[in-house]
Amino acid sequence: MKFFVDTADTAEIRDLAETGLLDGVTTNPSLIHKSGRKFVEVVEEICGIVDGPVSAEVVALDHATMMKEAEVLRKIADNVCIKVPLTIDGLKTCKALSGEGTQVNVTLCFSANQALLAAKAGATFISPFVGRHDDNGFDGMQLIEDIRLIYDNYDFGTEILVASVRHPIHILQSAKIGADVMTAPPAVIKSLFNHVLTDKGIAGFMKDWEATGQSIL
Ligand code: E4P
Repeated sequence: MKFFVDTADTAEIRDLAETGLLDGVTTNPSLIHKSGRKFVEVVEEICGIVDGPVSAEVVALDHATMMKEAEVLRKIADNVCIKVPLTIDGLKTCKALSGEGTQVNVTLCFSANQALLAAKAGATFISPFVGRHDDNGFDGMQLIEDIRLIYDNYDFGTEILVASVRHPIHILQSAKIGADVMTAPPAVIKSLFNHVLTDKGIAGFMKDWEATGQSIL
């Protein structure tokens, strides 16, 4: 499963990129707002850090303006992936852009039928929001299972990008279901490293090493 990080914080992206874990980045208008930086400038910097797809979202609601915005965004770098909402205009834009060889991430997916539409429109990625689905009393991971089944039934090439990931269990379940990609905030990715027995093991080894009185360097 590919790991994308869901942030516009370039310091966090650099830190994670050094681990070799990072396969791509997703941003959205709220994350750009949080960064306090200019959209085009921050996307350009992220594209210089990560080789994989960097999702940059259009903010227009009509197809013609979405196309104009996509034109500006895809010129930033070859690895820019245009993010469009799951609406009729969004899918028209998806179809047009993917026909021109541009990667498209269809976002704000909350049903398996919506995911079916995105695949038929040629989406590179479909982004079901599992955390927001859970928040509203639905089962986010069941949505991922349903999309996996449907995409496999028809051999769709669209990759399932699990989004709105809130905790490590979402990531574990995504991997078990066979999602292609997950995107999570930096803190959630970093929490995957944690285990109480790892910390305990390090403390024990350090104590015994000190008792040897030796040093490696
Ligand atoms: C994905 O591309 C979105 O940016 C993101 O996962 C939304 O997550 P949230 O529900 O935590 O805002």
